[in-house]
Amino acid sequence: IQKSIVCVGSLNVDLFCYLHDKFPEPGRTLQGSHSATCCGGKGGNQAVMAARLGAPTSMVGMVGRDVFGNTLREALIHDGVSIKPLREAADGTSTGTAQILVNGRGENMIIITAGANGKLTPTDVQAAESDIAAAAVVMVQLEVPLEATREALRLARAHEVFSILNPAPAPRGGLDQELLSLASLVCPNETELAVLTQKPAKTLSEIEAAAHRLRGMGAARVLVTLGERGTLLVTEKDGEDHVLLTPSPKVEMVVDTSGAGDCFIGSLAAYLSSGMALPQAVSNACELASISVGKAGTQISYPYKHELPERLQLLHGL
Ligand code: RIB
Ligand code: NA
Repeated sequence: IQKSIVCVGSLNVDLFCYLHDKFPEPGRTLQGSHSATCCGGKGGNQAVMAARLGAPTSMVGMVGRDVFGNTLREALIHDGVSIKPLREAADGTSTGTAQILVNGRGENMIIITAGANGKLTPTDVQAAESDIAAAAVVMVQLEVPLEATREALRLARAHEVFSILNPAPAPRGGLDQELLSLASLVCPNETELAVLTQKPAKTLSEIEAAAHRLRGMGAARVLVTLGERGTLLVTEKDGEDHVLLTPSPKVEMVVDTSGAGDCFIGSLAAYLSSGMALPQAVSNACELASISVGKAGTQISYPYKHELPERLQLLHGL
């Protein structure tokens, strides 16, 4: 039987402003090129990507009782994500938002307001325990309260379900060892890796050293996403760290890197849930992420299964 994925995380409406060239300095007013509104949030993005590959996916999260909340709920339904465990903030808290500036090179600056995401409780997560118990993969990020994230990882561990912790955004104070060691796979980008380990993580050798450090801090497996440089996976083999570097396919024209990391993690979860081995799943997910950077927006830039070559479609007849 095809097993499912549970995502416990954030849902935002992304308000994009595309710039002709550089980001403005403080005090400056700029004419932008154009704007767009897109469904986002790291949780929603990852869930939608997994569902687009055909993996049965459900979303544990919280939206506000407002227009944006309805928009996000409808979009999840449209992508086939189960919203049974999705909650609506009862106290009038607004749906989360992200203001995203994209410069002429496709780089972004993002400001998020948690809104309803900040109201997700461990109890809300416990209510989805049966979904978690039945899942192949649970994925979490850090845009909802840490205790809700921790509960998701605890339940995954209790039911022996593979879990992916995307420590994004990385908290300045770092993460405690319990949280890091609860996850089956910790998947930061190089910036998050640097924050979590308080080590430089720019060159490949720095990144590798920092990834070993993160393993030393409790992470069972570490997978660092490096954008155009691909990914670096550190796992344990016969009591020693084993390193695997997976290159990214070359992208002709980078339009917008927003949400590419989420595209990567959502597809990674989907491939893993179909029974694919980790190195192959990583390499496929790199390909999907590089497709997404060629298009504007977050979720709207993610491919659907039918648009992909057969080798990137899921196994097991999905
Ligand atoms: O990772 C990209 C996401 O981060 C955006 O969709 C935005 O909502 C922020 O949460
Ligand atoms: Na994109």
